[in-house]
Amino acid sequence: MKDHLIRDQLKRPLRDLRISVIDRCNFRCQYCMPAEIFGPDFPFLPKSELLAYEEIERLGRVFVGLGVEKIRLTGGEPLLRRDLPVLVKMLADIPGLDDIALTTNGVLLPKLASDLKTAGLKRVNVSLDSLDDELFGQINGRNVGVGPVLKGINAAKQAGLGVKINMVVKKGLNEHEIVPMAKFCKLEGLELRFIEFMDVGSTNGWKMDDVVTKKEIYEILQNHDALEAVEPAYYGEVAKLYSYKDASARVGFIPSVSESFCSTCTRARLSANGQIFTCLFNGNGHDLRDFMRAGATDEEIKARIISIWEQRSDRYSDERTAETIATRKKIEMSYIGG
Ligand code: GTP
Ligand code: 5AD
Ligand code: SF4
Ligand code: SF4
Repeated sequence: MKDHLIRDQLKRPLRDLRISVIDRCNFRCQYCMPAEIFGPDFPFLPKSELLAYEEIERLGRVFVGLGVEKIRLTGGEPLLRRDLPVLVKMLADIPGLDDIALTTNGVLLPKLASDLKTAGLKRVNVSLDSLDDELFGQINGRNVGVGPVLKGINAAKQAGLGVKINMVVKKGLNEHEIVPMAKFCKLEGLELRFIEFMDVGSTNGWKMDDVVTKKEIYEILQNHDALEAVEPAYYGEVAKLYSYKDASARVGFIPSVSESFCSTCTRARLSANGQIFTCLFNGNGHDLRDFMRAGATDEEIKARIISIWEQRSDRYSDERTAETIATRKKIEMSYIGG
């Protein structure tokens, strides 16, 4: 294990960097970018506001120098950013980085999976909330059926990328898809993670009553197939993992609401316009882009990141109350990629 150089106020090291490369998406998932709000006139970031690949790589190097071992590319939908494999290659060449992964809706993977793998990407997490075309089309807000996502998953497998599936579960919407999704992923040997619906941003109309908890999902699954707990793959893993008794596949839960995991949160987030967020539920970020564009040296950027991390005391999910839910100003998830 590496010697981590910096710790925040709660003694948490900085190990993961989630980089959003674009704030746009070809889907309008109800729980993330509802179509009523993210309509045709929505002011997405103009290209000049986005970090250039050279700027992302430069920041990536500084972060790796501070202890980051894993970089995850997110969006919006990261595969909409032109020539993404070029960025992956630039990041893969940073000495000291162990893991590069991507979170995607999968639709563009048939086109890009092979180039991403060649560039050095190791794995993808693909979002899929239902196997029913009509329901999935309704959830993604674009009437896209399940077929294009399954093609993307296959393309990623064929290319030799690791694949996990993310399913956000919302009460009254897709609970009845828990068992079919579990059966499907087990058959395909895919690790499926059930994600509790979270109160990210302020546009998804989140209510506590909409959350299907890890415990509830676990009980539904246990009735169909016996599960055994598995040790976390790495310190601070967000998913609580289980294995089927026949060891054919693993299944996990991301219980951000009912069993928060802030005490081991080692993640910083870099938004597409170059701001650092130290929590998914922050309202404001800390600028690095304009600082860099004004001529800051690597040492000055490093010092700024150290200062931001050392002041960090975020633990939103641990502290979630009716008051924080109602009053906290929060960035939209499409800016910082979950
Ligand atoms: P790996 O473990 O590396 O495969 O990645 P991951 O599960 O951390 O990443 P992914 O982008 O697939 O995220 C899965 C879910 O976990 C999404 O709903 C994220 O919003 C959520 N998530 C990831 N990190 C955090 C976090 O720090 N806090 C909270 N509350 N949710 C998180
Ligand atoms: N709650 C939980 N997970 C969410 N995601 C997007 N919005 C939410 C939300 N409100 C998930 C996506 C994707 C990952 C990056 O975050 O489904 O898999
Ligand atoms: Fe797009 Fe992913 Fe958000 Fe859905 S969850 S709208 S696919 S960024
Ligand atoms: Fe980390 Fe904030 Fe998520 Fe807690 S709520 S795990 S501090 S990102």
